[in-house]
Amino acid sequence: MRLATLTSGGDCPGLNAVIRSIVRTASSNYGSTVVGYQDGWVGLLEDRRVDLYDDEKIDRILLRGGTILGTGRLHPDKFKAGLEQIKANLADAGIDALIPIGGEGTLKGAKWLSDNGVPVVGVPKTIDNDVNGTDYTFGFDTAVSVASDAIDRLHTTAESHDRVMIVEVMGRHVGWIALHSGMAGGAHYTVIPEVPFDIDDIVKAMQRRFQMGEKYGIVVVAEGATPKEGTMEVDEGQIDQFGHQTFTGMGQQIGDEIRRRVGQDVRTTVLGHIQRGGSPTAYDRVLATRYGAAAARAAHEGKFGSCVALHGEIIDLIDLADAVDTLKTVPQYRYQEAQSMFG
Ligand code: F6P
Repeated sequence: MRLATLTSGGDCPGLNAVIRSIVRTASSNYGSTVVGYQDGWVGLLEDRRVDLYDDEKIDRILLRGGTILGTGRLHPDKFKAGLEQIKANLADAGIDALIPIGGEGTLKGAKWLSDNGVPVVGVPKTIDNDVNGTDYTFGFDTAVSVASDAIDRLHTTAESHDRVMIVEVMGRHVGWIALHSGMAGGAHYTVIPEVPFDIDDIVKAMQRRFQMGEKYGIVVVAEGATPKEGTMEVDEGQIDQFGHQTFTGMGQQIGDEIRRRVGQDVRTTVLGHIQRGGSPTAYDRVLATRYGAAAARAAHEGKFGSCVALHGEIIDLIDLADAVDTLKTVPQYRYQEAQSMFG
C-alpha cells in the first residue's frame, strides 16, 4: 500500500511522533510506503509532497516539537472547491489512503473528503483537548505541563511583591488547559469559556485572600473566557480570514478590573504559543506513537471514514462523524471540583 499523511491547523507537540509511527508501522508491519504532503491541505492541493523513509532521520523526530511537514490553514470553501484537484493529486501519487492529523477543523475536512469518496483515517490532535470522542489528544499534556510550570514560577514572584498574577492560557472554546494547569499549579481562581465568569466573584476571592493575610493571588484565565452577560464591559474580538474568533486579551481585562477594585498590584502573563512549542512530554510521545500505529493499521485494514481515539487504555476507532459532531467541553462537575480549591 502507499499511504499519505499531512498535518493541518495549529501545530502541537507530538505531531512528529505520529508521522514517525505511521512511517515505521507502514514499513515494518506491511512493507508499505508513505508520502507526506507539506503545509496541510494547501500542500495536498498544490501537490507538494515528500517521500518519508523509515530511516535514521525519521527515527529521531520523536523528540522534536512542531511538524517536519509544516502545517497551514485553509478556508473550508477553498478546500471544498479543490476536491477534484485533491483526488487527481492522490491518484497521480498512487495513494491508497490518506491520514490527516489535525484538530476539529481538519477532521471536518477529513470527513468531507471521506463522504466524497476519498479513503481517509483521521488522527486527532490539539493542545486544547477539545476533539470529541477521545479521552485525550496528544499535545495537551505538554501544554498543561508548560502552563503549570509557569504558574509554579509565578507563585514565588507574586508572593515577593504582594501581587495578583493573571495567567492567560490557550483555549478558544474550551477550558481544559486552564482547568488542569490551574489545578496542578494551585491557582486561586480559574476562568474557563464553558462557565461565563462574574468579575465580582474573582474580585471577592482576591479581596478575601489579602484580608486573611495572604500576600498574593494567582488567577488562570482561558483566552476564550467571557463574562456573564451584563457583568463587565469587554472589548469585542473579530473573525479572521479562516472564520476563527480573534481574542482581545481577556487576562489583561480581568487584571485591570482587579487592580481597580482590589487596589493591589497586578501583572498579566500571556503564555501564548510557548504552550505549543518544544518537545512533547513522555505521555504525549506514547499517545502520539500509539495513534500513528493505529491509524496505519486501520488504513491497511480498509477501515476508512474513521478516526483513532483513546478510551481508557485502549486505542479505538470511532466514526469521523462522531469526532466532529461537537466540541468536547469541560463538564460542570469538573469545574465544580476545581472550584473547591479556589480562594
Ligand atoms: O487550536 C489550538 C490553539 O492553540 C488555540 O488554543 C489558539 O487559540 C489557537 O490555536 C492559536 O493558533 P494560531 O495563533 O496558530 O492561529
